Amino acid sequence: MQYKELANTGVKVSKIAVGTWQFGHAAVWGELSPLEEYQKIIDEAIDAGVNLIDTAKAYGTSEEVLGKILKGKRDKVLLATKLSRQEYDYNTARSELEGSLKRLQTDYVDLYQIHWPKINIPGTWHKADMEKKDYEDVFNSLIKLKQEGLIRFAGVCNFRLHNLEGLGEQALDFIVTNQVPYSLLWRFYDVEGVSEFCKQKNIGFLAYSPLAQGLLSGNFDKDVKNVQEKIRQANILFNEPVYARAIKVVKVVEDVAAEIGATPSQVALKWVMERDVVVSVLSGIRKLKHLEENIHAVDIPLTEEHLKKLDEASLNFQNTLPQGLELWIGDNSKENLEKLGIKA
Ligand SMILES: NC(=O)c1ccc[n+]([C@@H]2O[C@H](COP(=O)([O-])OP(=O)(O)OC[C@H]3O[C@@H](n4cnc5c(N)ncnc54)[C@H](OP(=O)(O)O)[C@@H]3O)[C@@H](O)[C@H]2O)c1
Repeated sequence: MQYKELANTGVKVSKIAVGTWQFGHAAVWGELSPLEEYQKIIDEAIDAGVNLIDTAKAYGTSEEVLGKILKGKRDKVLLATKLSRQEYDYNTARSELEGSLKRLQTDYVDLYQIHWPKINIPGTWHKADMEKKDYEDVFNSLIKLKQEGLIRFAGVCNFRLHNLEGLGEQALDFIVTNQVPYSLLWRFYDVEGVSEFCKQKNIGFLAYSPLAQGLLSGNFDKDVKNVQEKIRQANILFNEPVYARAIKVVKVVEDVAAEIGATPSQVALKWVMERDVVVSVLSGIRKLKHLEENIHAVDIPLTEEHLKKLDEASLNFQNTLPQGLELWIGDNSKENLEKLGIKA
């Protein structure tokens, strides 16, 4: 395994981490795996040197499942969870965290993250914006929870440039990560300058949906209408006309993979890992075989030339999308897609 430093904390984080949304949210992911499969995933990940595990209150029973399977192994991992409510005052934050600690069967979390800012994104379920008090609450709550020893580090998720700026300098010095969707098929945080901003502030990306929810694995090269899972149906990338264009990027990934004897998933994950701003890649896993494949992404030999080719395909795709989109849309009707500026 290879590691990167978490901001300037001295803590080393594995370049690939296990995302556990799929450990507990059948309502959106469809059939979950049995507990034993998740146990094996975590055990093998730890044996391979993976030390970061990401969950959230919002992921159904994920925290409970992790609490069970991490018994006796808690100190081997950095446990990251989230304040999934969009109320950030101390009393709410404290009681939400207490709930997480109970479900996770631990007395501290390593990284506590604000799951979502309030943000107004047309065509999605996000309708409000952060106010001054919200930003103050975020900072005051996180700092207090750290002083109380309940969390070791604090982070945010899905924070765009104006959200980061809204936090202010003191809070920006305090938080260590911004967890964002980041893959060959989702480059908004580069295009909008968030990556550059975070690099300057020494805030690392925890890159989520690095395989674009499996699309970059090459396993979806078929009619998009067959996609069953609610979470994928709501993902803009799994909707035409975006899907057909995304598949062209997948083809480039497949070509590179064939050239170097790796799998498309490994190539797509490695590309994310190679970005300076990324501290760790959160790979969502519900099948042991995927973990076994994905952790070896760390070792595959991608040349500068490959990285450039992937980057070009990725940005060309990104440039076909309107700015400011959100990965998931509440309503994937043709009318709403058109309203969002997505045209054939
Ligand atoms: N902060 C946030 O707002 C936020 C949002 C989203 C995600 N996250 C975190 O980030 C993690 C990862 O994101 P994600 O799960 O959305 O996306 P992802 O990691 O891109 O996709 C995960 C899915 O891809 C498929 N997959 C994984 N490896 C594969 C392989 N080698 N071959 C073929 N298919 C493969 C699996 O699908 P099947 O299981 O269907 O086979 C898996 O469930 C989550 O688990 C969660 O911890 C955070």
